[in-house]
Amino acid sequence: LKTQVCIIGSGPSGLLLSQLLANAGIDTVVLDRKDRAYIEGRIRAGVLEQGTVKALEEAGVAGRLHREGLAHDGFELAFDGDRHRIDIKALTGKTVTVYGQTEVTKDLFEKRIAEAQRFFFNVSEVAPYDLKSDQPCVRFRHENEDWTISCDYIAGCDGFHGVSRNAIPSEVLRTFERVYPFGWLGILVDKPPVSPELIYANHERGFALASMRSETRSRYYVQCDLRDDPADWPDERFYEEFARRLGPDVARSLETGPSFEKSIAPLRSFVAEPMRYGNLFLAGDAAHIVPPTGAKGLNLALADIRILARALIAHYREGTDAHIDAYSETVLRRVWKVERFSWQLSLLMHQFPENSPFEKRMQRAEFDHLQSSETASRAVAENYVGLPLE
Ligand code: FAD
Ligand code: DHB
Repeated sequence: LKTQVCIIGSGPSGLLLSQLLANAGIDTVVLDRKDRAYIEGRIRAGVLEQGTVKALEEAGVAGRLHREGLAHDGFELAFDGDRHRIDIKALTGKTVTVYGQTEVTKDLFEKRIAEAQRFFFNVSEVAPYDLKSDQPCVRFRHENEDWTISCDYIAGCDGFHGVSRNAIPSEVLRTFERVYPFGWLGILVDKPPVSPELIYANHERGFALASMRSETRSRYYVQCDLRDDPADWPDERFYEEFARRLGPDVARSLETGPSFEKSIAPLRSFVAEPMRYGNLFLAGDAAHIVPPTGAKGLNLALADIRILARALIAHYREGTDAHIDAYSETVLRRVWKVERFSWQLSLLMHQFPENSPFEKRMQRAEFDHLQSSETASRAVAENYVGLPLE
């Protein structure tokens, strides 16, 4: 089987890439080790930057997003009960949109299937090879048959646990990592959000985040121990802890109900360099992970895709490889800035078991600085709404 670009991974990165390339008349095949229903059901991110929304518009998949997404002009930081609103609209002129990753993937799948995109689901033994040749290949198994796809380029959009990153020889690949000593326990509940805007809270008992998916569906998180199991957290315990961390003013409006999703995510910062090797490109979680504080993971992944699509389109339409040659450097500069923001906001908003009283005072001083300085708040807002693409 032959194609122009073989895309490994059918998460938001792989799907958006196949859509942007299809719109430019470029042929792709998309492989995933899971199936559509599984991918659409994965509960993950919830906040889209304006640039992400624009990319989905350009791809032609933003109709429902515009009808159902909630535009947010600001969010709150809370520290031991004190609250500070970051007015992102006033500080940057931009807004963010609350619209779940599940919905983004559903919208993308719908259009890709309607346009007869070639997908292979439930594949195994995926192996990209001949990366330095001008006809790289991807081998895999599908329904008990061995397949080989030969192509011009391979896009490794297969997430943190995929195979693409490790197809880069170990003497070339460099990785940078920080693992955080706690996790986020998240629930979904069909009750109106406790507050109309997101609240990120640092309390002496740990972090909490009040988020939402719609006006009737809430997404709430608390910092938990990495050894915890969701079963250790019946709903009553979750709500009690969540309410305490948000403080009595907010908790008064908390409507509780049975959660229908409950899971624990570890927190990690990770970057792999370079993001191109021969004719293999890495994009999204395959190349980098950010801790979720600040809602950057999905947005960062889709920013890579916008830059990668632009580079591939320039190659096929104009015959210029300048963008392809600059891909890794261009995206990594932005990746590191977003890593920095997610790391810094994570340091500010969590209780670290190893923190001394000095570090706790430093967190408090940073919060006080944000409260008293519009300039400091604007720096947070500028990152939150999304840094520009180069
Ligand atoms: P993925 O969504 O991981 O997609 C990769 C795809 O590749 C998957 O469909 C997978 O099945 C497939 N694949 C893997 N290996 C192979 C293989 N060998 N062969 C073929 N296919 C393969 N971000 C936020 O902004 N806010 C959040 O609240 C948030 N919560 C998260 C919670 C969890 C538990 C996780 C894991 C991530 C969360 N993120 C969050 C991050 C965000 O979801 C990711 O950044 C985003 O999904 C990245 O998209 P992606 O397409 O690059 O990777
Ligand atoms: C959500 C997740 C985040 O990491 C974040 O910073 C904001 C919102 C969410 O799942 O709604």
